[in-house]
Amino acid sequence: MKQFSQRHLLGIKDITADDINLVFETADNFKQIINRPIKKVPSLRDITIANIFFENSTRTRISFELAQKRLSADTVNFSASSSSLSKGETLIDTVNNILAMKVDMVVMRHPAPGACQFLARHIKAQIINAGDGTHEHPTQALLDAYSIREKLGSVKGKKVVIVGDITHSRVALSNIFCLQKLGAEVMVCGPTTLIPKHILSLGVKVEHNLMKALQWCDVANMLRIQLERQDIKYFPSLREYTMLYGLNKTRLDALDKEIVIMHPGPINRGVEITSEVADSRHSIILDQVENGVATRMAIMYLLAGQKSQ
Ligand code: NCD
Repeated sequence: MKQFSQRHLLGIKDITADDINLVFETADNFKQIINRPIKKVPSLRDITIANIFFENSTRTRISFELAQKRLSADTVNFSASSSSLSKGETLIDTVNNILAMKVDMVVMRHPAPGACQFLARHIKAQIINAGDGTHEHPTQALLDAYSIREKLGSVKGKKVVIVGDITHSRVALSNIFCLQKLGAEVMVCGPTTLIPKHILSLGVKVEHNLMKALQWCDVANMLRIQLERQDIKYFPSLREYTMLYGLNKTRLDALDKEIVIMHPGPINRGVEITSEVADSRHSIILDQVENGVATRMAIMYLLAGQKSQ
């Protein structure tokens, strides 16, 4: 049987195309299961997973929790505001205390880039990165690529543009790694101030004109402006951003082809995307959410299976 090559899922950078395809094949089975009247399988019975979230989250946290329930895992949830970290405890101590209660796997979201790598070096449990600051968000990239594969048949050879706040987006970096490993061409598009200078070294195309980017692509992944991470002003106003980079029906209609529209959520309707486009038949935004549960089930299943080897 094929095996996942890593003990943890810390970032897409560390995994191979074979790993990604293994996740997809496993997710295909789980997607069938979660669409049955009885959605639960015993695959992770007796496995205990802690979801520890030091940053706000709605869909990622719920998606992981649902995936765990569907696999019959036992779960404990903890969020930063209610934790002892505010009493001065270190991250390692917090997590080791949780592990002392016999936890097998940790799903962690943390504002510091590299927090999951750090934890993986210092504690025994298997770690899944649910977003570490502006660094990586591997399960989002897996569900995004899975959704492209589902919609267009494959990822290989497809042209994907990621539009918006590339500098502050962990979704962008993980998507770039994932799509390239699967043989897609990737472009980033946005204002100069929101595209990091080193981005060309990752082998992506850079375009500042949204219409040119849309004309080039098969898929447009629209990102939210991460205002909570911006300590200085990167552009004059949200209104100006929308005028230059917002996706609306007029822009879509001006293309001589149909493209697939994606968004990791949360959407800021009327800023990076209009409601008309977000809710249109071109959009696979809710498919992404559904596929999130199946791909996260696949990841946890593959990691847990590997542990018993
Ligand atoms: C993203 C995140 O948290 O990085 N959302 C998500 O996980 N669904 C993107 C965002 O916050 O804009």
